[in-house]
Amino acid sequence: VTIRSSNLTEVEHTVTHANRAQRNGHRGGVLWFTGLSGAGKSTIAMAVERELFRRGFQVYVLDGDNVRRGLNANLGFSPEDRAENIRRIGEVAALFADAGMVVITAFISPYRSDRQRARNAAHGTFHEVYIKADLAACELRDPKGLYRRARQGEIGNFTGISAPYELPDDPELVVDTQKWSVEACVQQVIAYVERTFRS
Ligand code: PPS
Repeated sequence: VTIRSSNLTEVEHTVTHANRAQRNGHRGGVLWFTGLSGAGKSTIAMAVERELFRRGFQVYVLDGDNVRRGLNANLGFSPEDRAENIRRIGEVAALFADAGMVVITAFISPYRSDRQRARNAAHGTFHEVYIKADLAACELRDPKGLYRRARQGEIGNFTGISAPYELPDDPELVVDTQKWSVEACVQQVIAYVERTFRS
């Protein structure tokens, strides 16, 4: 996007990343979950948040349905609106990370270019986590009945049915929710965070 205001000057923080990391015992960063609806993004994100909190991490989940009721209440599911949804979330996540927190985002984020933009916004503290489950598995789970409604034509632009999902080509972590239990998936993310974020 083009920056519409002029005469902007950046103000330097005097509290450094190192200061924050030293106090928290870990660096800040973004764990960017991506995957189909029903793949398990929210479930795993919330369980990881709980466990990291228990271990003393400064951690916060930004979740699809919650953010879409507030910050992004004016956006739908067209490719343009999804791009704007992900752009804003990418910027917010980068701010949380800058503040020293481990932020977990749980959005389908179906387009590679949008995820790449979120990565660029986070200045080297971005970790793409593919929450892996194929369409057949997600459709079978159908926890909210959305796939059924999408098949019946009641919901348009539905990811996997009438809108694309572009697979991550080089994610930092793959969590296969067809192969592993929720607990095992959570442990895989926790192990990744422990070896990547501890300072
Ligand atoms: S995106 O693509 O990243 O902007 O989507 P996201 O913000 O994660 O929102 C996905 C949740 O919105 C519900 N929903 C839809 N998903 C996909 N396509 C369409 N058309 C749609 N309409 C509503 C759905 O509950 C998604 O939730 P999750 O948690 O992924 O199942």
